[in-house]
Amino acid sequence: MNNVLIVANLKSYKTKIEAKEWLDAFVKIKETENSLNDKEIIICPPFQLLFMFGSYAKDKLLPIKIGAQNVSPFDEGAYTGEVNAKQIKDFADFVLIGHSERRNNFGETDDMLSKKTTLSLKYGLIPIFLVQGKDNLIPQGVEIIAYEPVFAIGSGNPDTPENADQVASFIKSENDTYKILYGGSVTSENVKNFTKMPNVDGVLVGGASLNPEEFIKIIYNA
Ligand code: PGA
Repeated sequence: MNNVLIVANLKSYKTKIEAKEWLDAFVKIKETENSLNDKEIIICPPFQLLFMFGSYAKDKLLPIKIGAQNVSPFDEGAYTGEVNAKQIKDFADFVLIGHSERRNNFGETDDMLSKKTTLSLKYGLIPIFLVQGKDNLIPQGVEIIAYEPVFAIGSGNPDTPENADQVASFIKSENDTYKILYGGSVTSENVKNFTKMPNVDGVLVGGASLNPEEFIKIIYNA
């Protein structure tokens, strides 16, 4: 997979109506079809919208894949409130694991993240594993990693492309088949600065993906 990967993380935003508006605006992506060569787009909506995004994409032949933002560290069973990998696989092909917002707000530990990864792989979900720096543990079987320094998330203060590239290169020195994304305050203005770096294979976009027009520009400019 040598395509530039562009992942949207919609976080805990969008009601059903707002999601429909987002999709109706995002359909315009098809007018820029030739800008999509060599790009792979993955949208990660909240759980309750996974089905809607997937079926809309199928109906309108949108060139996107679907990812979840989280997965239970447990397999199916008596775990009230959890959504497990086997269930998610009905609606998505990818899953974000290890976002700093989950590590920090929900106490997710390396051990939990490794269980989430194992179960995702067991059911055929592709993990997009997030690290906040060079020192995070990366579970076995992960192929796509997103480097997101905490200071850059939602702050309007991205890392420098040079540092992002250096971190990506360091992680790749462990395993040169890893795909490394950069995330943290990516916009349509700065996206190319990251995607042109030799070790950066794509971007993970939070806030700027909430606006479909801006997200299309990011895809176009990447
Ligand atoms: P941001 O978020 O683009 O709003 O900085 C990125 C993320 O948290 O995945």
